[in-house]
Amino acid sequence: MSDNLRKPLVAGNWKMNGNLALVAEFNHALASLNVNAEVVVCAPSSLLHGFETGSFSIGAQNVSHLDNGAHTGELSVDLLKEAGCGYAIVGHSERREDQNESSELVALKAKKCVSAGIVPIICVGEPLEVREADSVEAFVSKQLAALVDTLSVDELSKTVIAYEPIWAIGTGKTASPEQAQDVHEFIRSYFSKVDAQLAQGLRILYGGSVKPDNAETLFAQKDVDGGLIGGASLKAEDFISICQAAN
Ligand code: PGA
Repeated sequence: MSDNLRKPLVAGNWKMNGNLALVAEFNHALASLNVNAEVVVCAPSSLLHGFETGSFSIGAQNVSHLDNGAHTGELSVDLLKEAGCGYAIVGHSERREDQNESSELVALKAKKCVSAGIVPIICVGEPLEVREADSVEAFVSKQLAALVDTLSVDELSKTVIAYEPIWAIGTGKTASPEQAQDVHEFIRSYFSKVDAQLAQGLRILYGGSVKPDNAETLFAQKDVDGGLIGGASLKAEDFISICQAAN
């Protein structure tokens, strides 16, 4: 994180975990958090009303690309804003897989977020077989191409990218700092072909088994601007120490 144009960001992704007791614990533990990084907790939407934000922000884990209407079970950007969300994760690999979300749909969701002033944290990343076949750049390029086709440079500048190799998510197998840096650098260079200034300012988070003991080395990489944290974001103490590592 040598480029101080980019403020570090650490986002917790609680996934389908947590309860109001954990929300209360986080409110208490994070109240005096004072780090030189943006801190976001992306909890299940039904818990969002319980957070006392101030030292941190809250985010959703998904959002609809549509405005409103007959779409049972979906949440619009307006509903998320009313719930206090400043961020929304879009295109997490679990949703790309479980809900068959395409890169084109993910791009529409990101665009909708930007239009409402919500920062989309857009996830990209390859499965193990793609890494083993040495095709990471081609795979990630396709995911990024959909974004570039759908969002303007100005819109892209209001997004955050999260590189999450699927083989590292929830497995305890973190990408090495070099593996992370290589892909982050590739992602930045991809955007620099679109617009050099955009690429310089774009925050690229790493996600996949980030823990208190590996966060600092990962975040120290030149093109790693923070992290998207799953399992370790469910323990206030661990999450706080990861936020401090981004300082
Ligand atoms: P993990 O999850 O930290 O538990 O690997 C990261 C994510 O899925 O965002």
